[in-house]
Amino acid sequence: MISRQTIDAIFSAARVEEVIGDFVSLKRSGSNLKGLSPFTDEKTPSFMVSPAKQIWKDFSSGKGGNAVTFLMEHEQFSYPEALRWLAKRYGIEIQEDGEQTDEQKEEMKLRESLYIITEFAKKYFEEQLHETEEGKNIGLAYFKERGFNQSTIEKFELGYSPAKRTAFTEAAEKKGYGKSLLEASGLSIYREGETTGYDRFRERVIFPIHSFSGRPLGFGGRILRNDVKAAKYLNSPESEIYHKSKILYGIFQSKQAILKQNECLLVEGYMDVISLHQAGIENVVASSGTALTVDQIRLIKRLTPNVTILYDGDAAGINASFRGIDLILEQELNVKVLLFPNGEDPDSFAQKHSSEEIEEYIKENSTDFIRFKANVLLEDAKDDPVKKAELVRDIINSISLIPNIVQRELYVQEASKLLEVREEVLFKELAQSLQRRRKEFVDRKKAETETRPMEVVKTEKIEINPREVVEADLIRLIMQYGDLVVDLSDAEGNAYQTTVIEEIINQFDVNDLDFQNELYKNILEDVKLGFEAEELRTGDFFVKMFDAQKTEIASEAMFEKYSLSPNWKDKLNIFIKPKENNISKEIFDVILRFKTFYLDDEIKKCSEFLKDEELSGDARQDQIEKVMTLTRTRSQIFSKLNRVL
Ligand code: UTP
Ligand code: MN
Repeated sequence: MISRQTIDAIFSAARVEEVIGDFVSLKRSGSNLKGLSPFTDEKTPSFMVSPAKQIWKDFSSGKGGNAVTFLMEHEQFSYPEALRWLAKRYGIEIQEDGEQTDEQKEEMKLRESLYIITEFAKKYFEEQLHETEEGKNIGLAYFKERGFNQSTIEKFELGYSPAKRTAFTEAAEKKGYGKSLLEASGLSIYREGETTGYDRFRERVIFPIHSFSGRPLGFGGRILRNDVKAAKYLNSPESEIYHKSKILYGIFQSKQAILKQNECLLVEGYMDVISLHQAGIENVVASSGTALTVDQIRLIKRLTPNVTILYDGDAAGINASFRGIDLILEQELNVKVLLFPNGEDPDSFAQKHSSEEIEEYIKENSTDFIRFKANVLLEDAKDDPVKKAELVRDIINSISLIPNIVQRELYVQEASKLLEVREEVLFKELAQSLQRRRKEFVDRKKAETETRPMEVVKTEKIEINPREVVEADLIRLIMQYGDLVVDLSDAEGNAYQTTVIEEIINQFDVNDLDFQNELYKNILEDVKLGFEAEELRTGDFFVKMFDAQKTEIASEAMFEKYSLSPNWKDKLNIFIKPKENNISKEIFDVILRFKTFYLDDEIKKCSEFLKDEELSGDARQDQIEKVMTLTRTRSQIFSKLNRVL
């Protein structure tokens, strides 16, 4: 847990325009800064940053918030990750609090040390590659031969480990890193009982493997000569920070493009990722030669539900992709498969073609998984009925892994056509398959949810109904003008002065009004709490809150170019847009309008009453009168609202 003081220090040091400026190029526009949305592929800038209010708003995606929520959205950081990033950016030392056991503290220390030595090693390998004769002649020459240019090499922070047996270990020891850390990092190897170690990576080109947020966690090293018997790639062993099954190679360099294009290409190797990047295809990650794990799929799912698997067209590749597909399906992702022409892999293909050609090839040749699997298996089964029966079962088994029923049924229909088997037969097979798997599936899901990593809270889409619009308007008034003093008059026409917040709290109390939207209810509670402490909580307050949803609502309201509400109003023909400076009138109107919903509810209730056949004459008369009064009040309100219904 990061201490409260540290969080405060981070918030007061961080400047939203500086933080965003690290990622988006911003230009001054009045009192705001303006740039191209980093969340969409827009051509005209609609991404606004307000240095005065310390908030940002992206009008093309609707997102908005403060410096922390920007990092959470843009880098897909968790809240603590975003704080740590800012602490580093502004040189703030992080103090942890809460009860940590000695063991936990030790573990933290070890993890921190591992991050540091891995970072050191990454820099060391890069220096070797760029600044030594050996590195340039052997390592750099190799990368050039493989077609990588300088900026690609730098982007992926590629390196070189010298041939000398103890080169890195000695350099690290000289820096003061000790045996236990060097050993734990996997970078040095110590023989039983020996105090001098030697390097794991020798005479190899080095691929640092980064975390989601860009920290190097481990390395892959490729051998340079083909004649040697050693493994082609050597990888860092598992450590406290490097868990092979939870990492995807390239995720750090690709996450932006994956988000923007809402699609993730999945390849096998380091080389494939890098070559595709160099060719301009940047939404790509690699599973690094092993079968995909559930954790890796979740990493992708943080960014997009659409995955296209790119594999070499050999038998091994096809088999690997079948396994991959089943796993991805279970995670409710949409899967396509793309095979390359004989003898080509994504790397070689990318080296030979332009980015347009690659994009075209992917678009033209990627196949929905079921069609892909059916085709491959059909080819194999030919006219063998036994094999065909097996194939049907196999495909239905894959389909049964999809959690979504509608999607599942669509696939069955598709499969029926492809396999030329009647739908009924397939559905029966599916039912059996589902039953077989149900228990096992439920058990696994349960186990998974228990270890699910923290996810960024996303604001739910607000449904468009008139009441929601008015509720949103009230919240916007609180955020934007909550502390403004307005001139109002009561029902008898007596003028009085009050603040927007006071007026809303008062009207809500007197008339027993409340929001239906839970988030707004919650915001009003915060406002009331503030009011009791003689504090007017407007957008300035909420923007700094550690609540992504509230921060977003506040920042949205605080930008004058408030785009949602006016549109809704046009669509629903509810309001005549008040003049910007006429807040008194607007607050009066909005509250009045809000009250009509309560009248509508009352009128509805009375009409329900009147349906009751057994209602006595007097009671009926009462109800009728009540409805008339209510309806009259309602039309008076609407005439006050200056509008014909
Ligand atoms: P590939 O053999 O396809 O490697 O293995 P590559 O990345 O395309 O490299 P080149 O083109 O032969 O130079 C795919 C991935 O499997 C892992 C690596 O992550 C590799 O990128 N692998 C492969 C290993 O970990 N160890 C190995 O010995 C081989
Ligand atoms: Mn390759």
